[in-house]
Formats: sequence, C-alpha cells, structure tokens
Amino acid sequence: MPEHTSDVVVIGAGLIGLATAWRLAADGIQVTVCDPTPGGQTSNVAAGMLAPVTEVEYGEDDLLALNLASNDAWPSFAAELEELTGLSAGLHRTGTLSVAYDVDDAAALRRLADYQRRLGLEVEELSGREARRREPLLATGVSGGVWVPGDHSVDNRQAVSTLLRAVDLSGVQLIRERVTRVITRGTTALGVQLANGDTVHADHVIAATGPWSSQLDGVPDELRPPVRPVKGEVLRLRVPEVYRPALRHTVRATARGFSVYLVPRPGGELVVGATTSELGYDTRVLAGGVFALLRDARTVLPITDELELVESIAGLRPATPDNAPVLGPSGLDRLLWATGHYRNGVLLTPVTAQLLADTVRTGTLPDLGKPFLANRFTH
Ligand code: GLY
Repeated sequence: MPEHTSDVVVIGAGLIGLATAWRLAADGIQVTVCDPTPGGQTSNVAAGMLAPVTEVEYGEDDLLALNLASNDAWPSFAAELEELTGLSAGLHRTGTLSVAYDVDDAAALRRLADYQRRLGLEVEELSGREARRREPLLATGVSGGVWVPGDHSVDNRQAVSTLLRAVDLSGVQLIRERVTRVITRGTTALGVQLANGDTVHADHVIAATGPWSSQLDGVPDELRPPVRPVKGEVLRLRVPEVYRPALRHTVRATARGFSVYLVPRPGGELVVGATTSELGYDTRVLAGGVFALLRDARTVLPITDELELVESIAGLRPATPDNAPVLGPSGLDRLLWATGHYRNGVLLTPVTAQLLADTVRTGTLPDLGKPFLANRFTH
C-alpha cells in the first residue's frame, strides 16, 4: 500500500484544519491534509458569526482573551488570503445588534450589557426605537437593544472555498480519505492510517477532528479529549429584492426567553440559527427545530414569513466541559490537538492556525494558548 511522507499531517479539512495547513505551508513546511469531505461538516453548517462580545459567557475570561485576539486577527488573515487567492475570504464587517422582545428579555440583555461593560467591551444600549432606527424591519414589539460595533461575520462556506484554493496554491497535499487511526510507536505519533489502506508518515500529526476528536483511534483512551457533539439546526432564507437588505447587521435576539440569530450575507441570504441539542451524532433536521427558529425569527423580524426557505441543515459543534478549545500538545509525542472550538470555530480559526504553526515551528505552545491544553481535563 502506498506510503506518503510529509513534515506535518493534518486530520480534518474544516476551517481549522485548512487554515492551520495554510499557515504551516506559508512557513515552508510540507503539509498533507486528510479528509473525505473537505469543509463538509461543521464548517459547512455554521452561521459564521464572529461574536467575542455578544456570545461572552460569565466567568470565561481566558476564552474571551483568545476570542478577542482572533477577532483582531481576522481582517489581516482575510486580507492575506484574498491577496494570495484573488477570492473573497467572506469577512462581512457589519457589527451586531442584540435585541430584546419582552420586558424579561430586556432585563436579561441589560444585565449582559453591564457585564460586557465591566469587562471593558464596547457596547451601546439602545431603546426599542433606536434599535429600529438601525434596523427598520424589526418588529414594533422590540423593546430594547445593544449595539456591538466589533462583532462581525464571515461567510463560512466562502471561507472554506478560499482556504481550499489557498492550500492548493501553497503546495499542501489534500488527500480525500478518512483517517482510521493514528500510527504510534510507544508514546510517539508517527503518522496516520487511511481508510484506503495508505499511510502518511509525518514528524507531527495535528488532529483538527472537531466533534469526532474523542473517537480518534490510536490515541490512548486517557489522552482523548472530552469533546462531545452538540447539534445545531440552521436555516438559510432568501430575501427577495424588494426587501433587501432585510438586515444591515447581524441581529441576535431574545424573544420571550428564546435565543435566535439572523446573519445577513451580501448576496441576499439570511442565515437563521441555531438550535442546541445533545443528541449525539444525530444530524437529522427536526420539525421542532425548524419551527422554533422560524417562530423566534418572525417574532423579531415579521417579514421572515415572506422569505424563501432554501435550506435547513444540522451540524455538530465540538463542545468541551468548559466550552473552550483544546490546543497544542496531547500527551502523545508529536500529536497536537486543534479541536473543541464549540460555538467559536469560525471566530477562532486565525488564532488557532497561528498557535499551531508556532508550536510546530518552535516546539512550544505560545502563552495565549496555554490555558487550553488538553491536560487541564486530567490534572
Ligand atoms: N456561535 C453560534 C452557535 O454556536 O450557534
């Protein structure tokens, strides 16, 4: 069976795996990426919000620092990709408007805005009328809002296509095969075995394996990170010309206690997401999920009823017990993790790629990545 060799083999061609491969190749490192369906899983389903401020959670300070660093890195990451490929990286700088529907929703939004301000984040509280001035098609029942100028979005599908072009132009070898196991000798990773029987031998193995990370054969059970799949259903709607742009900004809403977000794309698509369910690897789109998303979207944006429903899809977020990613050394020599990005995979793509490339180059995970080592779950 053919044996390939490479400096680095990356398992998984989602945004994280592709961006990491591209960064490494830019450093002159020979890279092979293995994935039967590049960009075809979580990166295809995501809505693509860059939401370090609007998705901040109480008590997640290390994660906030990483999220902000990656948000800051997105413009230059996108510019570099665009310069290399001549294609858009999909970055859409719109800011985000968070809105509340009833009085309880407004109280929760105000509490969150207080917390965001205490963290030094840029937020501006708005009345319902001021929120509608920014987004005239919002329901008259919207009772208040918070304007977050620094939270933008990325068309994740566009970013995948552009990264595929970038890795191709950078000499990365893409093998469209499933990795069946990591090949090891003693406590050292030597490469990967593929489903077609081929092997790839490499000095480093990077597992960008998302929701499947805890299942990676060849890695001893005690070193597999506790990453679990969390299902999300997402809808894609088409806005007719007469209503464009239905929204100018990403809109996040709490409507009678339920959360929904609406992410406009420049071409007239509106992405509505997302449900959150713990159903293992089930990616069926359930009627109840579609119902809930449409119910909440039309509460805050009544013209939702007039939009064409072009796609309903479900994907799996790679979640960890503390909602933060797993980066760098794995406990098995020469195997590095780039996984567990949960709700922030698109946002964390530039910083993850840079941290992993630095780790391969220097042998050390930079300080920004240290809180996210896999061993935090075992020590
Ligand atoms: N970050 C959006 C989501 O996970 O649904």
